[in-house]
Amino acid sequence: MATAPPAVPTRVATAERAAAAAGFTLSCTREVGRLLSLAAAAKPTGTIAESGTGCGVGTAWLHSGLGSGARLVTAERNAALARTAAGIFADEEQVQVLAGDWRLLEQHAPFDVFFCDGGGKRDAQQDVVDLLAPGGVLILDDFTPSPDWPPRFAGEVDELRLFYLTHPDLVATEVLTTPTSSAVIAVRR
Ligand SMILES: C[S@@+](CC[C@H](N)C(=O)[O-])C[C@H]1O[C@@H](n2cnc3c(N)ncnc32)[C@H](O)[C@@H]1O
Repeated sequence: MATAPPAVPTRVATAERAAAAAGFTLSCTREVGRLLSLAAAAKPTGTIAESGTGCGVGTAWLHSGLGSGARLVTAERNAALARTAAGIFADEEQVQVLAGDWRLLEQHAPFDVFFCDGGGKRDAQQDVVDLLAPGGVLILDDFTPSPDWPPRFAGEVDELRLFYLTHPDLVATEVLTTPTSSAVIAVRR
């Protein structure tokens, strides 16, 4: 018997509507969102961080798993997007939306969960690892599954994915989020 897909948290739906209204197409998928919610729930007193807020869709998924003792901080360099996201969480003391470069997050480190989605992922890979607390979970989405090892993308070895998957300070794996997309999940030793 067919069942309905799991419900989408109210604030996620609000952020998705805001993204549609703004013409913003880079929000995380619902599949990745459920992974974010799970990761946040695993750290009920943790510091949860996101680089690249967009319109707040990923933030809303992280928020949906947030424990009462946790806090969530996210940074977005596009001022209009940051304002939109801040409005969605205006009534939520546990969430801080920072308008500016992702480096603003550093003052809140170490992170128990880090969804690195805008700034850092490609341009400051070692810093991303260094910002994690021991046991901290790093999530990076938007990869294309590769049947090869080392993983390849567009015919070339994917050095970015390889960095995180083989970093000596991380225990990392890649999981399918849809049949055509994957995410790297890593925990700092
Ligand atoms: C993939 S989108 C983020 C989507 C969002 N995390 C979500 O899941 O809904 C990437 C965002 O990162 C922002 N961004 C890119 N570089 C940045 C930087 N250096 N600092 C802060 N934000 C940045 C972009 O403006 C864009 O809104």
